[in-house]
Amino acid sequence: MRRQMMLAGYILVPGSHFGGMWRHPYSETDFCDRALYENVARTLERGCFDLAFVPESLSVPVGLNGDHETLVKYGAVGAIRHDPSHLVAPMVAATRHLGFTITLSTTFMEPYHLARIFGTLDHFSAGRIAWNVVTSAGESNAYNFGHHPKLDHDALYDRADEVLDLCTKLWRSWEPDALVRDQATGIYADPEKIHRLDHAGAYFNVRGPLSLPRGPGGGPVLMMAGVSSRGRDFAARWAEVIFAIQSDQQGMRELRDNVRARAAELGRTGAPIKLLAAVQPILGETRDIAQARAAYLDRLIHPEMARAFFAAMLGIDLSHYAPSTPIEVVLAASDGRSAVDAGAARPWLQRIIAERPDHAWTVDEIAIKLAQSSSTPRLIGTASDVADELEELFLSEACDGFVVTPTHFPGSFEEFTRAVVPELQRRGLMRTQYKHEGFRSELGLDA
Ligand SMILES: Cc1cc2nc3c(=O)[nH]c(=O)nc-3n(C[C@H](O)[C@H](O)[C@H](O)COP(=O)(O)O)c2cc1C
Repeated sequence: MRRQMMLAGYILVPGSHFGGMWRHPYSETDFCDRALYENVARTLERGCFDLAFVPESLSVPVGLNGDHETLVKYGAVGAIRHDPSHLVAPMVAATRHLGFTITLSTTFMEPYHLARIFGTLDHFSAGRIAWNVVTSAGESNAYNFGHHPKLDHDALYDRADEVLDLCTKLWRSWEPDALVRDQATGIYADPEKIHRLDHAGAYFNVRGPLSLPRGPGGGPVLMMAGVSSRGRDFAARWAEVIFAIQSDQQGMRELRDNVRARAAELGRTGAPIKLLAAVQPILGETRDIAQARAAYLDRLIHPEMARAFFAAMLGIDLSHYAPSTPIEVVLAASDGRSAVDAGAARPWLQRIIAERPDHAWTVDEIAIKLAQSSSTPRLIGTASDVADELEELFLSEACDGFVVTPTHFPGSFEEFTRAVVPELQRRGLMRTQYKHEGFRSELGLDA
């Protein structure tokens, strides 16, 4: 059978990778309404998507000068964060086939707690659950948990290794046939088939077993997004799918090939690690309409919000710099540990600067560019144009599928489902119906 692409819908409000999302006149604005998420889930399932992808942060983002005010004021990315496990629960109930990725932190949560959350969701979703494992390296999260804000980057991954080791053992602490449920004899479960861990490690002591029978998925599908060398090693060891924000095909391919090579060095066999690349489609009935829409979207970005978001990304206080400050001056002051320096946006930034090498880029110009799509590629055109671009990225083996990030919520998913999905299906690049053979099989991970 022809290789088919995976698709996920990115669920982040009130801003998304597009910083002006909630201001779009077709966007919903009540992001605390459960029905909104149920409807999104139904839309994605109608479009035969694989996943709804829920990112996470454990703090209100801080912006311009280290406080939350600007980003909350203008409804920037992450100004509202529901607890991901509770957010997806009604979405799970509203669907039968769609999978759900929730992002949870190995730094601020205990392995037993994490194993139990995913254990319950595994059961309740009939195995349709995935975990985007993050180390929550950003300082602002630490302030909410009484930790020293400067957490050591690599040590967080050491801890994450132990968390995953423990979670996978906890998910398997009940053998598949441990539940007996014999009402006549009164035997509920076979204790011989339920095992303690008695783990004593560098970070945790966990006795086990988990207080839940093994779930139908045997635990969640494991996803990761780190891009540092240590993050890639971590993904190579554990990830089944990686989520990438890469601004171009080369970046996607390099990341995918590199993590796969590292996995091979570790002796990993089985299905190759898949890469899902974030994309931001901007659709129009004609190319001119799509271009006009992109220009319209840009006008929804508040410059002050954009600057605050850029400051958060850089991890430095931008309030001392005039909006017209040359970007080089600001980058030189970045301490080398920001998200930009960690790799997520650095190649993007270099490319933007290189596009017009004679232009003296200012802080505000770059900030607006970043707020347009957070360095996610914008695909602007008709449904057929967008399908062409997705097809090229997919067939060139740069990636295995896409995370569709919205410019208006949930209308972007409705448009994509109505216009682009049928085009991809016509080309044989996407399923036309679910296989009914289980989540891992839908994702092509059971090879
Ligand atoms: C594309 C992408 C998406 C991410 N999404 C999240 C997220 O939703 N929540 C979070 O806490 N961290 C997120 N992260 C942060 C990573 O999980 C990781 O903690 C961080 O990138 C530091 O690791 P690194 O230096 O290996 O990249 C994301 C990172 C990338 C590159």
